[in-house]
Amino acid sequence: MKALVYHGPGQKAWEEVPDPTILDPNDVIIKVETTTICGTDLHILKGDVPAVKEGTVLGHEAVGTIVEVGSGVAKFKIGQRVVASCISTCGTCTYCRIGSPSHCQSVGGVGWILGHLVNGTQAEYVRIPFGETSLHSIPFGMSDEEVIFMSDIVPTGYERGVLDGKVRPGQDVVVIGAGPVGLSAMATAQLMAPRSIIAVDLDPFRLNAAKKAFGATHTVNSGNPGWIDQIKALTRYGGADVVMEAVGIPATLEAAFELVRPTGRITNIGVHGKPVTMPIHNLWIENITMTMGLVDGTSAPTLIDLVDCGKLSVKQLATHRFALDEMEQAYEVFSNAAANNALKVVLEA
Ligand SMILES: NC(=O)c1ccc[n+]([C@@H]2O[C@H](COP(=O)([O-])OP(=O)(O)OC[C@H]3O[C@@H](n4cnc5c(N)ncnc54)[C@H](O)[C@@H]3O)[C@@H](O)[C@H]2O)c1
Ligand SMILES: [Zn+2]
Ligand SMILES: [Zn+2]
Repeated sequence: MKALVYHGPGQKAWEEVPDPTILDPNDVIIKVETTTICGTDLHILKGDVPAVKEGTVLGHEAVGTIVEVGSGVAKFKIGQRVVASCISTCGTCTYCRIGSPSHCQSVGGVGWILGHLVNGTQAEYVRIPFGETSLHSIPFGMSDEEVIFMSDIVPTGYERGVLDGKVRPGQDVVVIGAGPVGLSAMATAQLMAPRSIIAVDLDPFRLNAAKKAFGATHTVNSGNPGWIDQIKALTRYGGADVVMEAVGIPATLEAAFELVRPTGRITNIGVHGKPVTMPIHNLWIENITMTMGLVDGTSAPTLIDLVDCGKLSVKQLATHRFALDEMEQAYEVFSNAAANNALKVVLEA
């Protein structure tokens, strides 16, 4: 089969590799029909994730059809359409049992293994370890583009943003970063009927998308002087009830410390590469709660149902489409997302 193989920092190729085979009774092999590229794949290519060995097939998002199941798999049959979670989960270890498969012990203590520690989904076929618990069936009639973003970014925005933030009706919500993850947080925050969803970014295209298609009620460009005060003036109590950070740099998390109102919550979704100074001397007396973490993906079945019944729409994240064997072109566009007005690129077999 053909797959996108990592060959060390800055090096990758769409090339011939052996087809995956069943290695464990819990494995499921799927024929990939739709996949996408994540910002994390770009981090791997920059050499930021040294655990990824040369020769690994990248990718942790996929919709496909089951072509083979291990002898231990009872729930799924050949021919079923499924969406893979970016988090592989055994379903039985202590972390899986408390609802945090992001720390699944059976797959090495970190649930994200696809396209990281084992071959991933940017390929014609992929082996899914613990397939019964790591794949979700797709309701009849749903298109690939309606479910592909359930592998990773929509659960990320919902779990690490909206659920951790405990967004409640009537609250003011600020989302800093209107990339695919921030936009997913906005789309799912709407489910909680907040008073406002204020999108913050530097990119006018993304701010426009936030308002047009992802439920933002206001947009604020953080390149403008006075933007913090502009946001405060939009909120009911001079600060937000929930501030979500979906960028991953010190400046935006530091802004969250200023934007949150007493008793509010800050949810850090972004992946940071450097330490951030926390003004705990100011925050303690304001009863601020801060959360952070890796996506678990456990919300995917609920989110799929919400799309199926028309309460949530995320397919508008797909801005560019390619054939699977146009992987290199797709990477080119996604690596220059701002210049190409791209949110997510979708690759279809
Ligand atoms: N916690 C998790 O499990 C998890 C999972 C997936 C992604 N992530 C992280 O979430 C973050 C967002 O992911 P994404 O795919 O949307 O990334 P992205 O790079 O597409 O989006 C980031 C957005 O932030 C904006 N931005 C940059 N600097 C800014 C500033 N100073 N003020 C306001 N906006 C600014 C950019 O214009 C961009 O639109 C990343 O850090 C990613 O690594 C976390
Ligand atoms: Zn990802
Ligand atoms: Zn587990």
